[in-house]
Amino acid sequence: MGLSARVVILAVLGLSLALYCGVDPFKHSPIADSPGFAAHRVPLPPWSDVPVERDARNLLQRSEVKFFNEVQGPESLVFDPQGRGPYTGVADGRVLFWDRHSWTDFAYTSNNRSELCSFKPSPLSYLKNEHICGRPLGLRFDKKTGDLYIADAYFGLMKVGPKGGLATSLVTEVEGVPLRFTNDLDMDGEDNIYFTDSSTVYQRRNFLQLVFSGEDSGRLLKYNTVTKESKVLRRNLQFPNGVSMSKDKSFFLFCEGSIGRLSRYWLKGEKAGTSEVFAILPGFPDNVRTNQNGDFWVAVHCRRSMYAYINGLYPRLRTFLLRLPIPAKFHYLMQAGGRLHAIVMKYSPEGKILDVLEDNEGKVVRAVSEVEEKDGKLWLGSVLMPFVAVYQLDSSN
Ligand SMILES: *[C@@H]1O[C@H](CO)[C@@H](O)[C@H](O)[C@H]1NC(C)=O
Repeated sequence: MGLSARVVILAVLGLSLALYCGVDPFKHSPIADSPGFAAHRVPLPPWSDVPVERDARNLLQRSEVKFFNEVQGPESLVFDPQGRGPYTGVADGRVLFWDRHSWTDFAYTSNNRSELCSFKPSPLSYLKNEHICGRPLGLRFDKKTGDLYIADAYFGLMKVGPKGGLATSLVTEVEGVPLRFTNDLDMDGEDNIYFTDSSTVYQRRNFLQLVFSGEDSGRLLKYNTVTKESKVLRRNLQFPNGVSMSKDKSFFLFCEGSIGRLSRYWLKGEKAGTSEVFAILPGFPDNVRTNQNGDFWVAVHCRRSMYAYINGLYPRLRTFLLRLPIPAKFHYLMQAGGRLHAIVMKYSPEGKILDVLEDNEGKVVRAVSEVEEKDGKLWLGSVLMPFVAVYQLDSSN
């Protein structure tokens, strides 16, 4: 075969591949179903700023796996003002309560529950009907009233009394823009609730598209329970997620999922109303929670891989890769460096890393959404797992 024939064959092959990827006739590409998909640049910090601290002993593997298949996708774990619980929101839209013997139904967010919301084999299999069944993500008790505040991904900011039942809606839109992916909240004890709407474009059931797009319509919001007014504190955020008040209530932290950092929003002092970077995280944060000491536990969904880093910086490359007929799951795993693995980090109120615990092999704790510290134990919830993991602090010694 002559050189020119080879060139022609290669050109034809290349063209066919480009055409196939461009047209994707079998709809295998992760963005095939979202015609409006646009990849945004993620302004990542220099690679050298990403923390390198590791838990070489993989201490999270020593966690106890509890309630296997009794709780599907428990994101947030809270204890009530009497210390009872935990309570957790699960994939079928209920908030469950552990009464020390069994799980009972405590509350729900949808007034339209049906057999669509009944038991399914895995947390992800509920995604299709979440907009009907509800999806309670962030949970917080008001310590004075015993009311439970709920950030429901679909129904917005809600509240239910100490006896539970159907939650009532508090906020469904802010400054004229509907909440589309309400994610987490915390309160200052002075009638203010700070909460996040992760996107005004994508709902939670399309969270992979949100992850892949790096889309920046997320908002940090405030609601006053007395005046019933809400307002936008920060907009154009890329997947804002967890929120947690500092112990002295002079600031709160919020997670920015796509960039992978914690930001600090000042409530008191000279810098009140301003925000700044608090810490760069090694991966994609979900929730953050403050312990009794005033330190912050952050749940991190996997260490960012170099693949994810480059994809974040170059949206055109990302779009090209996402057009390839490769399943979404594969792209997701590549971002996570090949396998799901959980990392939890503890920060001081000054932003210093105090502790890193991980299961780098994803053997026991493959994913983590929240870390709640109580009585020397870490309660680890995850939207992706059918259990709660409990880690005994100091079990390292
Ligand atoms: C109520 O649920 C049914 C399915 O069980 C669904 O078809 C309908 O759209 C829902 N109504 C509302 C208002 O969400």
